[in-house]
Amino acid sequence: MNESIWKTGTNEKSYGKINSEKILNEEVDICIIGAGITGITCAYELSELGYSVNIVEKNGVCSGTTGNTTGKITSQHNAFYNYLINSFDEEVAKKYLEANEKAIKQIEKRIEKENIDCDFEKLTSYIYTDKKEEIQILEREYEALNKLGFESSYVKDLDVPFKIEGAIGFKNQAQFNAVKYVNGLLRKIEDNNVEIYTHTKATDIDKFDGEYIVKTDKGNIKAKFVIIASHYPFLKLQGLYSAKMYQSMSYLIAIETKKELPKGMYISVSNPNISIRRAKYEEKEILLIGGGDHKTGKSVTYEQAYGRLEEFAKKYYPDAKVLKKWNAEDCISLDKLPYIGQVSSFLPNVYVATGYKKWGMTLSNVATDIIVDIIRGSKNPYADIFSSLRLQPIKNHEEMKNMIIDSSKGLIIDKLKQADILESELPNDCGKIIEIENQKVGVYKDKNGKLFAINPICTHLGCLLTWNQIDRTWDCPCHGSRFRYDGKNICDPAFNDLEVVEIE
Ligand code: FES
Repeated sequence: MNESIWKTGTNEKSYGKINSEKILNEEVDICIIGAGITGITCAYELSELGYSVNIVEKNGVCSGTTGNTTGKITSQHNAFYNYLINSFDEEVAKKYLEANEKAIKQIEKRIEKENIDCDFEKLTSYIYTDKKEEIQILEREYEALNKLGFESSYVKDLDVPFKIEGAIGFKNQAQFNAVKYVNGLLRKIEDNNVEIYTHTKATDIDKFDGEYIVKTDKGNIKAKFVIIASHYPFLKLQGLYSAKMYQSMSYLIAIETKKELPKGMYISVSNPNISIRRAKYEEKEILLIGGGDHKTGKSVTYEQAYGRLEEFAKKYYPDAKVLKKWNAEDCISLDKLPYIGQVSSFLPNVYVATGYKKWGMTLSNVATDIIVDIIRGSKNPYADIFSSLRLQPIKNHEEMKNMIIDSSKGLIIDKLKQADILESELPNDCGKIIEIENQKVGVYKDKNGKLFAINPICTHLGCLLTWNQIDRTWDCPCHGSRFRYDGKNICDPAFNDLEVVEIE
């Protein structure tokens, strides 16, 4: 059930020539870490320019955020432009808007050029409110867009089955199936001799002879340039991303209904929001309903996560049948702009792209455009506003405070007696942190009563993990790493598994 409609039916073989065997030492112009939409788009553009490129990916192709996206290709990123003008200035807001509008056109052009069948469809995107008290947010956003000279529409009615108070429409936006799109690019980069190594974990980047050695668990790759497109930069210290970025989770359900589906893409300004779009799934037109964002590691109930979306579906589509449900994790910078460009001033020719704030379909393209221009020595008009080296005062003091609070370290225990866990009255199929002799241990009892115990200290920078009862995972409230109930790492920035505690 917890698999996105995009990933259903895909496996390693659907991605063509993938190599997960041992890497012998290799030498390329560019080594890309991460095989999501950013890594694959960079590989496509750079290999088309004649560079030799290879890709290492810790898990599988599109196994992270790209495989769990809503697939909206839009420059309408909630009510963002009023925020940008107020927090930065009109020039930054204008550049952000232009860069994302350009991305929509570039994606469309690439799909046409390579003849990629990915359910690409152009339509209007709306941000709306159904609450009178939120009208002001929309009015301020509309004013901001007018200031930027961008043609948007302000409407009082939409083809949705509920009454709205107002909405702002952006024409010529688009939606697609991101996994099919990436797959189309993969076919092309195979022709360009790009090697893709999945299930290959990059562990470090070392300077060597004016170039770099990307160290992996299966061998080393020497490269002139390195692109870290691994969702959350895996380097612990360089660039200090853990001090300026956090992760957020959101939820999606796919429903089938006989009722007519709305024609556009929609997102409410309310918090938590509701995001809606049509999609194709198994030859049927279905509806995706998303929302429920919260910082990763915060405990939420099923009702707050999927329950709210199911209730919305039942209310407006009473015959709704839930086909799939899944969640996505996104990186968010403290100033809400992505980090794109040189990863740190100490590592020239090593680039990063992260912090897309849930709008990765266009921003991955913006990142590709900027990084490709830097590598080939061209000036990119948008590079400055996204620069990963920017010195932004920390404006989001609340987030910063949370990170510091969350960063308290736990203790380590070697062995655990089964009786001690049973004493804590843990029901089947539940997990929690228990304290034994002043030591914290994370325990999970599966449906059949089998116990699993881990050291609940994140292997990234040592924060105390929290139990996620919806997914049966251990999640980190600091920077969003996630681990399976048995300690296996499943989400960046941590890349090592949790320490398993033996049960006697
Ligand atoms: Fe950074 Fe856990 S993700 S400490």
